Amino acid sequence: MKIATIVGARPQFIKAATVSRLFRNIPDIKEYIIHTGQHYDENMSDIFFTELEIPRPDINLNIGSGSHGKQTGRMLEKIEDVLIKEKPEWVIVYGDTNSTLAGAIAASKLHIKVAHVESGLRSYNKQMPEEINRIVADHVSDILFVPTLHAMQILKTEGLGDKSLLVGDVMYDSFKYYAARTSDEHLPEIIRKKDTEFYLATIHRAENTDNTDRLKKIFTAFSRLDKTVIIPLHPRTRKMIETLTLSDNIKIIEPLGYLGILAALKKCSKVLTDSGGLQKEAFFMKKPCLTLRTETEWVETLNDGWNHVVNDNTELILKTIKMPVPAKQESYYGEGNAAEKIVEFFLKQ
Ligand code: UD1
Repeated sequence: MKIATIVGARPQFIKAATVSRLFRNIPDIKEYIIHTGQHYDENMSDIFFTELEIPRPDINLNIGSGSHGKQTGRMLEKIEDVLIKEKPEWVIVYGDTNSTLAGAIAASKLHIKVAHVESGLRSYNKQMPEEINRIVADHVSDILFVPTLHAMQILKTEGLGDKSLLVGDVMYDSFKYYAARTSDEHLPEIIRKKDTEFYLATIHRAENTDNTDRLKKIFTAFSRLDKTVIIPLHPRTRKMIETLTLSDNIKIIEPLGYLGILAALKKCSKVLTDSGGLQKEAFFMKKPCLTLRTETEWVETLNDGWNHVVNDNTELILKTIKMPVPAKQESYYGEGNAAEKIVEFFLKQ
């Protein structure tokens, strides 16, 4: 069976790595990897392929950045060409980026079956491009691989229950596998040299980076925190903060690879982020998290106080950071074998 995997942005490399590792051990499955080129910098893309031992993409479409319509449109056109030529029986798309959207639409219009990994997440906030991408991907796909019971319920409500399969979270698979393989050598120098506590922060979502007022409020809170704030910065955000004056406790560093971010997570006191993935990785690592958004799709992380939605509210951020580390944690994201269940599905086809 020939399966085309479509990836393009950082979180997709992390998710696809686990499934791809299993595919490689199955002679009956031939995986063809299409990289849209949505992320293209060495530390936004290449490092993930090397560190996570993902085979080099069979093709890179080199789409790069652009407005949503342009970026998605270019992807659609090029993905269609590749799918017509390669004729896979299935296409797998991951998560909620523009690469997910383009891959799902291109394949479904060619009547190629589509599998969507990480289905059923909703923020109910259509200002987020990711929300639109996931709704469309879920509705046009043929099989939905679902990470949590909550996501399963959402899909049932939308009438998609019949094509939904609860497998657990592939990001938990990846976390378990790679966290065991990180060590201090993966830490950025600034953390390796440091013996005092620090907070780990990331910001990249359009609703934060494209709104100077929000960005200012968030950085004001950072500047008033009681510890150093280390921020591996997404290139999108770097462009936007050039106008801000940063206080001395804020340390901006280059984006980290997956092993680097896991090593940094292990060492930090708490996490402040607008990333979906990092909220959960903080939860898996048992580090309290403050989410710099108006809502979260990963509602389970809120239980027992592991995660708090603090938005851009400076005073709330300063108050919440002082809360104690929760005493207990339940498990919501499966057993770390979501990829095995996904592969089992394909073997039955
Ligand atoms: C994308 C996804 C988001 C995901 C995130 C992970 C969409 C709509 N958003 O957001 O769901 O959580 O990836 O990082 O698909 N840029 C570079 N170098 C790169 C990549 C991007 O400089 O390697 C800059 C470009 O100037 C670009 C901007 O970052 O304009 C935004 O990139 P884009 O791919 O549009 O979305 P992300 O913000 O990365």
